[in-house]
Amino acid sequence: MDSIIVRGNGPLKGEIPIAGAKNACLTLMPATLLSEEPLTLTNAPRLSDIRTMTELLSSLGAEVSALQDGKVLAMSSHDLDNHVADYDIVRKMRASNLVLGPMLARLGQAVVSLPGGCAIGTRPMDLHEKGLMALGAEIELKEGYLHAKAPKGLKGTVIDLDFPSVGATENILMASTLAKGTTVINNAAREPEIVDLATCLRAMGAQIEGDGTSRIEVQGVDRLHGATHPVVTDRIELGTYMLAPAICGGEVECLGGRISLLGAFCEKLDEAGISVEETERGIKVARKNGRVKAVNVTTEPFPGFPTDLQAQMMALMCTAEGTSVLEEKIFENRFMHAPELMRMGAEIEVHGGTATVTGVERLKGAPVMATDLRASVSLILAAMAAEGETVVNRVYHLDRGYERVEEKLGNVGAHIERVKVT
Ligand code: EPZ
Repeated sequence: MDSIIVRGNGPLKGEIPIAGAKNACLTLMPATLLSEEPLTLTNAPRLSDIRTMTELLSSLGAEVSALQDGKVLAMSSHDLDNHVADYDIVRKMRASNLVLGPMLARLGQAVVSLPGGCAIGTRPMDLHEKGLMALGAEIELKEGYLHAKAPKGLKGTVIDLDFPSVGATENILMASTLAKGTTVINNAAREPEIVDLATCLRAMGAQIEGDGTSRIEVQGVDRLHGATHPVVTDRIELGTYMLAPAICGGEVECLGGRISLLGAFCEKLDEAGISVEETERGIKVARKNGRVKAVNVTTEPFPGFPTDLQAQMMALMCTAEGTSVLEEKIFENRFMHAPELMRMGAEIEVHGGTATVTGVERLKGAPVMATDLRASVSLILAAMAAEGETVVNRVYHLDRGYERVEEKLGNVGAHIERVKVT
């Protein structure tokens, strides 16, 4: 298990390349199950979650080759010989549930372990099940596994999602591409990863309109062909690294970033006194002057403030001028970074889904524990401007979603190193 040691330092300067989106890649990879022909993804991120999805697809009989140091994923699911997504893999990564829709559409059956709870919440799959059953699937829960079958194939219909769930939208969208007739998904998720998936599916021959809006319409087709698709830039990695100069001072250009990927996040940075400028090559971020101002944040589905940037924003608010109220409306337990930040001197009060942060002049380094993916990177951001040294333990969480974080931050002046802990 590795740890990361960070020593607080001054302003940052330089460029950070932003990788392909983890949360796009994790839904694009199962799309290979929809076709017998090869699907190749370029601009893929090199992350442990991608390796977990590779392990899952391979267990179903698909072939996944990581080429060009993992930036290209050449996949083929011509000979699928297993339709069971095993608990041992699914419990490691919830996104494994995204094989359910494609397997149902291609094979007419699927057995997928329920992912079980995770650090940030219970994360049920009721919206996935409701949508797929509306398409004609029979789904039964047996010993922790969803047993799904559609012996007569899937049939298009109108589906009204109670909540714009990203994963449910993705599972239903992929399944509907091979259903007979028209499917309409109302209250669909609007995240850029949905648009990226729809773009890839269209390249494979699917007929999809309305992706990126709350109403997606799909005309089912008999089969999908192969394609090559570039994974969209990772908006959460982008937002995370935009916060580095906001916290430390200085100026950083995040290469590949586009403001259109970030929804309400940029408005909040502007309100806090951070300058954000879109350039030819990406997004340039600088702290205009003096201390950052406290702002209030409520997490919402896209294009609202992303829940995946809440922990990182809290790290910024810890040393802002004034008091900030952060409301987490998407997950029921996503403030585990708060007690760790408090070990560094942050003044935070958590009541249910609301955290109130009173900014202090400067945090102080301390040994802290990473609890989940986004919490771990918020601790690193906070440590980069803290006085003294911080040791962040259990960084395997970090490696799920951030490739070479110490290299990317080190290149712009952070004092950060990874140490192997036996
Ligand atoms: C995706 O998770 C992302 N993961 C999450 O990123 C992200 O936080 C989340 O969307 C919200 O944007 C991937 O894309 C792999 P949801 P997902 O279904 O699809 C409830 C990260 O850090 N819900 O939109 O699981 C659910 O419990 C991860 O990269 C139901 O109640 O999110 C949650 O409270 C963390 N029933 C809320 O909806 C369902 O059937 C949002 O979940 C499905 C979801």
